[in-house]
Amino acid sequence: ISLKAHNTFGIAKNARFFVAVKSIDELKEALNWAKSQKINSLILGGGSNVLLTQNQDALVIKIEIDGIKVINETEEFFFVEVGAGVNWHQFVLEAIGNDWAGIENLSLIPGTVGASPMQNIGAYGVEIKDVFASLKALNRDTLVMEEFDAGQCLFGYRESVFKHELKGKYVICSVVFRLKKAPEFHTEYGAIKETLEANGVKELSLKTISDAVIHIRQSKLPDPKEIGNAGSFFKNPTISSDQYQILKSEYSSIPGYPNAEGVKVPAAWLIEQCGWKGRRFGEIGVHAKQPLVLVNYGDGDGNEIKNLAEKIQQSVLDKFNISIHPEVNFL
Ligand code: FAD
Ligand code: EPU
Repeated sequence: ISLKAHNTFGIAKNARFFVAVKSIDELKEALNWAKSQKINSLILGGGSNVLLTQNQDALVIKIEIDGIKVINETEEFFFVEVGAGVNWHQFVLEAIGNDWAGIENLSLIPGTVGASPMQNIGAYGVEIKDVFASLKALNRDTLVMEEFDAGQCLFGYRESVFKHELKGKYVICSVVFRLKKAPEFHTEYGAIKETLEANGVKELSLKTISDAVIHIRQSKLPDPKEIGNAGSFFKNPTISSDQYQILKSEYSSIPGYPNAEGVKVPAAWLIEQCGWKGRRFGEIGVHAKQPLVLVNYGDGDGNEIKNLAEKIQQSVLDKFNISIHPEVNFL
């Protein structure tokens, strides 16, 4: 079966077997079947953060476990348990409709709730670790459900334990979010303030913030329905303050955001300086409005994109002596 419709890059690689599961029982059945046939299994959500570089000699299991439920409530919070297969943005809209605050800045991020802890999704000054309570994940060896709290997930910038030590070992089945009853608006980041002003917003609300974020995102990120992509292909690198000062003396316009480890430099800026922005190579290329996003115009191949990514990494290393690393998961 072709996976073209199951990854937002729109790469036409095949899976030997494919199944969509709507419950934990169906998931266990699928994992057991793969084990009995001695076939590898591979978990897929919305396919919005993967690059397929080969046919998958495996059972690809698409997670479609549903459900949004308030499981606990305190004076300050709602604790909401959400099935791994729920579309992330649908959950954000549901939260806004119910006045559950905390994820409005994460509007319009593609993919599923189950994948959201994988890389601790983030945007516009918020990451899911800020609202994360716990998750339930099925151990793929024992088929026992285990619970993880935030500490056990080892969240970092676009990182979690599930991308490292526990890679491929668990299937996330549901996530509990701790959402606020009294909103705390985050408008400092990026162009949110300007956009709220341009939209004529007088009073902040979950909805006006969400609308502003949606507006900004639509103005620079390509819609995967029109042009294949997986969002930012690379993570933004953090360099030492010393290295940043040296670069600043040579490139006075280099942006930098100090953090605990040094200075975070936008990979988009580095890639643009290396001359990649907007360049097209046959069916693939570098997006014209956001050079951190690599695109497939239709019939691009995963390996072509991988090669382009390597060339971009090398040129950034040659010019700035900075290593940039993929955010996307290669399959
Ligand atoms: P998939 O791509 O299906 O899977 C990603 C990885 O997680 C794979 O390794 C897969 O095996 C694994 N996985 C998926 N589901 C499960 C599960 N239930 N249990 C265990 N493993 C699982 N990300 C951001 O953080 N911020 C952004 O602002 C952002 N913007 C984006 C904009 C665009 C246009 C696009 C296309 C992507 C963007 N992304 C962004 C990346 C992407 O949306 C997120 O990484 C998202 O969480 C991926 O979800 P998914 O369901 O599509 O995961
Ligand atoms: N820039 C350029 N040229 C460009 C575009 C951007 O030089 O053409 C520079 C500018 O200095 C700009 C800076 O890059 O200020 C940052 O750009 P932007 O605000 O678009 O954000 P980003 O750092 O490229 C990150 C996340 C996005 C997230 C946005 C908003 C990463 C890897 N990416 O992008 O997440 O939506 O911030 O918070 O951290 C994703 O992970 O897939 C993703 C899209």
